[in-house]
Amino acid sequence: MQLDPEQLNTRDMYTWMVNSVLPRPIAWVSTRSRAGINNLAPFSFFNAVCARPPTLMFCPSNDRHGRPKDTHRNVEETREFVVNLASWSQLPELNASAASLPPEVSEFERFGIASAPSTRVQAPRVAAAPISFECVLDRIIAFSEGPAAGHAVFGRIVWVHVDDAILGADGWPDVSRMDPIGRLGGNNYVRLGPITALDRPL
Ligand SMILES: Cc1cc2nc3c(=O)[nH]c(=O)nc-3n(C[C@H](O)[C@H](O)[C@H](O)COP(=O)(O)O)c2cc1C
Repeated sequence: MQLDPEQLNTRDMYTWMVNSVLPRPIAWVSTRSRAGINNLAPFSFFNAVCARPPTLMFCPSNDRHGRPKDTHRNVEETREFVVNLASWSQLPELNASAASLPPEVSEFERFGIASAPSTRVQAPRVAAAPISFECVLDRIIAFSEGPAAGHAVFGRIVWVHVDDAILGADGWPDVSRMDPIGRLGGNNYVRLGPITALDRPL
């Protein structure tokens, strides 16, 4: 089978992509609006970019009316955000926080998700997140305009919170204690299975 993206509508292309790029990590992004409302939303078009400078990236698309999502607007206005990583036990709250609430309603308050103050940015973090990366905006790249238009938001990590309970004996995060969530296509998620270690070729 062959696919020519130019012959596919956006919805179908999206469906091919989210069922192919698997599993995806999830950035649970907290921001604060100019009006002081704390916002929280998940983004699975997300990854680490580089360690020098320490940079993360997530991708908010416009809504179907062509408007930027609250997260995107808040980041543009305040140039700050926090990328929280979630544990498997937090999946219900993470999913709930994807609700399309008006900008004046905080997902933290609506869904009873405890926040904690950040150190270097105004936006709060998710108190129970195993790891939270406080970020300042590096740049936003817009790939198109209008409904579903894609953007990549790059942030420089300026502070990191780590829950000591997820650390292993070697002092690094223990993946089984962190128990991360993977996003699949549709409404599907995956939990870590068996782990294999392989020596890298010289
Ligand atoms: C697990 C998960 C991953 C998501 N990933 C993305 C994404 O990468 N990009 C995006 O634009 N929306 C994504 N969404 C949808 C947003 O979370 C949703 O539009 C949310 O309402 C945006 O909130 P905001 O307007 O408060 O920023 C995802 C939803 C879920 C449940």
